[in-house]
Amino acid sequence: MNITVIGTGYVGLVTGACFSKMGNKVYCVDIDENKINGLKNGQMPIFEPNLKTIVVDSQKRGDLIFTTDLKIALDDTNIIFIAVGTPMNDDGSANLDYVFEAARNIAESITHESLIVVKSTVPIGTSFEIKKIINSISDVKVDIASNPEFLKEGRAIEDFMHPDRVVIGAESEEVFEILKELYRPFTLNHERFVLMDIKSSELTKYVSNAMLATKISFMNEIANICEVTGANIQEVRRGVGSDKRIGYDYIYAGCGYGGSCFPKDVNALINTAKANGYYPRILSQVEEVNLNQKNVLVNKVADRFGDDLNGLTFGIWGLSFKPGTDDVRESTSLVVISKLIDKGAKIRAYDPQAMDEFKKTIDEMYLDSIEFSENRYSAIENCDALILITEWKEFRNPDFALLSENLNKKVIFDGRNIYSKKITSMGFELHQIGC
Ligand SMILES: NC(=O)c1ccc[n+]([C@@H]2O[C@H](COP(=O)([O-])OP(=O)(O)OC[C@H]3O[C@@H](n4cnc5c(N)ncnc54)[C@H](O)[C@@H]3O)[C@@H](O)[C@H]2O)c1
Repeated sequence: MNITVIGTGYVGLVTGACFSKMGNKVYCVDIDENKINGLKNGQMPIFEPNLKTIVVDSQKRGDLIFTTDLKIALDDTNIIFIAVGTPMNDDGSANLDYVFEAARNIAESITHESLIVVKSTVPIGTSFEIKKIINSISDVKVDIASNPEFLKEGRAIEDFMHPDRVVIGAESEEVFEILKELYRPFTLNHERFVLMDIKSSELTKYVSNAMLATKISFMNEIANICEVTGANIQEVRRGVGSDKRIGYDYIYAGCGYGGSCFPKDVNALINTAKANGYYPRILSQVEEVNLNQKNVLVNKVADRFGDDLNGLTFGIWGLSFKPGTDDVRESTSLVVISKLIDKGAKIRAYDPQAMDEFKKTIDEMYLDSIEFSENRYSAIENCDALILITEWKEFRNPDFALLSENLNKKVIFDGRNIYSKKITSMGFELHQIGC
């Protein structure tokens, strides 16, 4: 099959790469010329395990073509995926500017009947809006489908290649059949299609993210109850997760969720509900609990060292919003680091992949107070405490003797509860979340 993917970010690039790996001819289109030129030369704009090999191999075979020229792509394809960003507006609603611009771009270049597939996460009814925009500019017949993406950054290729489910929202059997055929190579083991109407498909994506965010905020709230009562969230998690109806996933307490999806998608769903006259009580609290949780580490540091942190330096391990990615959008690290600096602290930071993105994202005024380190141990040299924000594997079992040597004070704030209490016997003072 010949496919165009509009938007070459985390989702678009992975989608294009994986479809091309299965032998389809895929055009990946982006308005960012630097990104496209880099990709043509094998430079990945994002860090994602196993992505580069697929991109380079598919390009060599001629199955993957990078271009900024949408017309060239549309002339040779009849399935068009929209995978552009839908960031958050200031009022929490989804910003659909990129999506609608992509629709206009399609309408201006399309010459033959095609299927438009909306992969971007969009509020209920947006796919119909996209079709309306195209129909208002072009006479070419288009069908519309919704096919939200559920990949996780850091495991994106794995998730796309082996999806738990492929949700498709469409209006006709023919469209379902086209998309089932396209995804067939990814579901050979057993059928994983979940077919539905377009609006329900659009909502399904928001509900998945909102449900996961709810589980996390719920456990963070329980962790805070543990702290004031002396219970241990780690024990509670084991007890609760062993119930098959609940399970162990997404019930880890920590210093708050971030990323390009959970915060914006929960907010967008709240916004959609309110715009339709319904006030969503649970969802509103999910977000509020999370915003509080991003401050928990700062509060713990202030409890331990006082509110004035002048003259103190903190070593930070982990800047990305989760391990396995260079994405720092809405990351807890942005909140913790800026607030510690506001209180007078200096920061030494290390992340295996996300330091460049972090430098581009944090407010410039903080950069003078941050020293970025080459490795995890130099990041804590002469620091008054280590603060762990992202649980990259290389942080899980460090050389504690070296930590002991490098730190001024043997104090660790473990924002993801990855360390054992046993390290206190080595003289470390360990502050964790809810235990
Ligand atoms: N990142 C994730 O983990 C994830 C997972 C599932 C779903 N999603 C959803 O997928 C969508 C894309 O997310 P992302 O993280 O890949 O975004 P991103 O910001 O990484 O990438 C978007 C890309 O679209 C390009 N673009 C914007 N307008 C364009 C246009 N008119 N024509 C061509 N290219 C254009 C941008 O230059 C950019 O490269 C969002 O709706 C997001 O919510 C993201």
